[in-house]
Order: sequence, then C-alpha cells, then structure tokens
Amino acid sequence: MNFRLVFVVTVLTYGQCSNGEQWDRDLQKALFKDYVASTRPHLNTTTNLTMGMTVRNLLHVHERSRAIKLKVWFRFFWNDERLRWDPKDYGNISILHFPTADLWTPDIVLYNNVNEDYTSLQDYSREVPVIVYNNGDIRWYFPGVIETNCPIDITMFPFDTQHCIVYFGSWTHTGKEIDTYPQDPKQDGENFAEPSGEWIFENYEAKRNAVKYVCCHELYVDVEYTLTLRRKPLFYITTLILPCLFLHILSTLGFLMPIESGSRAPLAIMVLLSMTVLQITVSSTISIQSDNVPLITQFIGFILLMMTLNVMLTIFSLNVHFNNHPRKTGPESKRFKVLKNIGRALGVSFEDNVSSARSVCNSETRPSANGFDQLHIESFDSDNACNVSKLTKLELRAFRPSADCVKKFWMKVAMVTDRIFALIFFVSSIVAFSLIFSQLLR
Ligand SMILES: *[C@@H]1O[C@H](CO)[C@@H](O)[C@H](O)[C@H]1NC(C)=O
Ligand SMILES: *[C@@H]1O[C@H](CO)[C@@H](O)[C@H](O)[C@H]1NC(C)=O
Ligand SMILES: *[C@@H]1O[C@H](CO)[C@@H](O)[C@H](O)[C@H]1NC(C)=O
Repeated sequence: MNFRLVFVVTVLTYGQCSNGEQWDRDLQKALFKDYVASTRPHLNTTTNLTMGMTVRNLLHVHERSRAIKLKVWFRFFWNDERLRWDPKDYGNISILHFPTADLWTPDIVLYNNVNEDYTSLQDYSREVPVIVYNNGDIRWYFPGVIETNCPIDITMFPFDTQHCIVYFGSWTHTGKEIDTYPQDPKQDGENFAEPSGEWIFENYEAKRNAVKYVCCHELYVDVEYTLTLRRKPLFYITTLILPCLFLHILSTLGFLMPIESGSRAPLAIMVLLSMTVLQITVSSTISIQSDNVPLITQFIGFILLMMTLNVMLTIFSLNVHFNNHPRKTGPESKRFKVLKNIGRALGVSFEDNVSSARSVCNSETRPSANGFDQLHIESFDSDNACNVSKLTKLELRAFRPSADCVKKFWMKVAMVTDRIFALIFFVSSIVAFSLIFSQLLR
C-alpha cells in the first residue's frame, strides 16, 4: 500500500495531477476495493501456478557438508481473477507494478533448503515488485541465492558427475488448491549459467511431483529440478594425481640405487612423507564418505602402501646386505639352488658349483662372463682368501670362510632379493593402477 500512500502525499503536496496519475489512482482504488491479499485467487477452484527457475551461477559446492549454493532467477506465473480491468476505462493502462506485500503470492518454499535465514521464497522478493496485466495475469520475477543439500558422491573424484535435486512447492496448500507446473524448459530460457572454474552444467531437468505425505490425506505438488554438474578434473590431475604418480615413480627408481649407497632408506622415507602431505590435502578437500572407497582414496592408499612396502623392503635388503657374520654361511644346497637360479634370471650370477657361502668361499672361482657383475666377480677372483681349493679335506673341515668373502656372498644374495622386490613392486604397481583406472572407464 506504500505506493498509494506516496501517491496520495504527492497529490496533496502539489494539489494537481495529470490524467495518467488520475487513472492509475482510480484503477488501484477499483482493484483493491474488495481485495484481500491473504485470499487465494480462484478460491473455489485450483490456482494454477507455473514456475521457472534459471540457474545463473554456481556459487559454491561444499563437498564436506554436501551442499551447493546457487544464484538463481525465479519466475512465477498465475492468474488472479480479481485483478482484471479494461484498459479503455483507465487511460489505456494495461500493466501495473505492486509491492509483493500488497498482493497474494504463493507460499512456495525450497524443500531441501539448508540456509537458516530464508525459508519461503517470499522472503527473497520483498524488494521486487509484482507485475500485473489487465487480464489478471501475474508475473512474479525475482532473483535469489539458494543453498540446498546435494548428495555429493565422490566415488569417481575428480572425474565425478553430481546430480543435485532442488524441490519447490507450496508449504500449506494442497495440490487441489495450488497446482504447480514447471515452465516448459525451452521457454525457461537457455541455461544462462556462467561457467564456474571447477564445474560444468551438463543437464537441467524439471519435473512435477504429486506426493502424499504420512501426515495428510491430500496430495501435495512440488516441482523438482535436477541439475547435473560435471567436475573439470584438470586442477586435480595437475595438483594431485600427477604429483602422486611422480612420487611413485621416484619410489620405484629408488631400486636402481645400489643398496650399499646409504641414501636408499632416506629416499624411501622422504617420498613416503611427501605422499602423506598430499594425502592430507585430499582428505581436507573431499567429503567424508564411508559407503564405498572412492577411487582417489584407493589410488593414494595404494601408493602409500607401496611406499611403506618400499621402506620395509629396503630395510630387509639392507639387513641381508650387511648380514656378514662369519658364522652365517647362507642357505644350504636346495634353497641355495633356487636362489642361484633366480639370481641367474635376474642377472646376478653365483659360481656354478657352489651351494652356499661356505662353498663359494671354498671353491676356486672362475671369471664370469656376465657383464653386469664383472666387478663383483673379479673381486671374488682376486680375493686370495677365497682361493682355498688347495686345502686338504681335513683342513677344509676346520675351515672358517673369511669375513670379507662371506660379506661379498651376502651382498650378492641381497642383490638377488632386491631385484625380486623391485620386480614385484613394478608388476604390482602396474596391475593396481590398471585396476584403478579401469574403474574410471566403466
Ligand atoms: C466460485 O464461487 C463463486 C461464488 O461462491 C461463484 O459465483 C463462481 O461461479 C464459482 N466459480 C466456479 C468456477 O465454480
Ligand atoms: C487449472 O488447470 C486445470 C487443469 O488444466 C483446469 O481444469 C482449471 O480450470 C485451471 N484453473 C484455473 C483457475 O484456470
Ligand atoms: C487508447 O488507445 C486507443 C487506441 O490505441 C486510442 O484511440 C485512445 O486515444 C487511447 N486513449 C488514451 C487515453 O490515450
């Protein structure tokens, strides 16, 4: 009623008015003579309400609280038979604008609202007038920022697509009183959504639902909008997945370092620590989800597992490498044969006729043709302490292999185990990564 008050004050102040203003005043007087703003139009039939919503902007996706914030434009259309006039009688005025509070407006609420301040859409439109046409058609257009919950499923993160559903409906009027229809999506206007840095709008659907709630006998009508959002994964690929892969490659390359170089264990531990930092970044980004294990968690978990394993294997290899107690003469015949065969397959050759460290150090050794271990073998050969073939049987029984020779034997065993570990590490990485990535393609 503010409009009229201002108008009356204006008229009183200046004591005159043009024809247009006179007609406007007459028209408003006539329209509001018997008008009660709380009474629904078409009281004895259904008020048909058409609703349109355009998403202008995606403001925020709260992964952790599973909510999205959208800037939207609402459009409502209905007809109020009490607000009809003939423009000819009122100086050709065919459109009027009224403050929302002066007219009846539907009590539409956002059902899955998570914003504490606003409940009804009427709250959004307080400042925006309603447009009334002379045939009683009413257009109620207003912008709003809505916050709604959306079940964000991060199983495929960061290659995920989210389906967020937004429901609107009259809170107190049954479907018999107010029947709400979505606007034809084509008329609803192209989806104006401005691109967000992280998300792309893929799809936008509107649908009418009639639901019977446990409380009440009547059907309640709501309009359901399904927004499909696809995440642009580039940011997470470059800041998360590639660094993880690089760290894993680094961790694999660690196997190329000789065991005796003291930096293998520090490297393994440092890579593991860097990985932990990355993992903390991920867990602060993604929502907590215990229904299934998201791919990114599988990926990072696997890398962490492999890096822990790397540290453990390095420790084990170091243990074998420095296992040079003179009394420990290595596995005997059968087990040594297996080790020797594996060693040969992996390019570490032991002498042909030996069965343990004792025999390595007892037998006369020949130069090996194997290029990779030439140095080791040569040092074996030049080691006079090992060349004890001239000892008699009696002397052999009392023989203790020299510490140096046993040390070299264990270094070789360590080399074999280390290569086995490297192979296992490499193969299981490839298998696990292909398993994880194959889930993406499904
Ligand atoms: C609605 O009720 C009014 C009076 O109660 C009556 O004149 C009018 O015909 C009714 N309209 C319909 C569509 O039944
Ligand atoms: C609303 O729509 C229904 C079905 O389309 C129709 O029967 C009814 O008359 C309409 N109500 C009004 C007030 O136009
Ligand atoms: C209203 O419009 C009609 C036709 O356009 C015109 O003849 C008439 O003069 C107009 N009336 C006023 C008050 O402007």
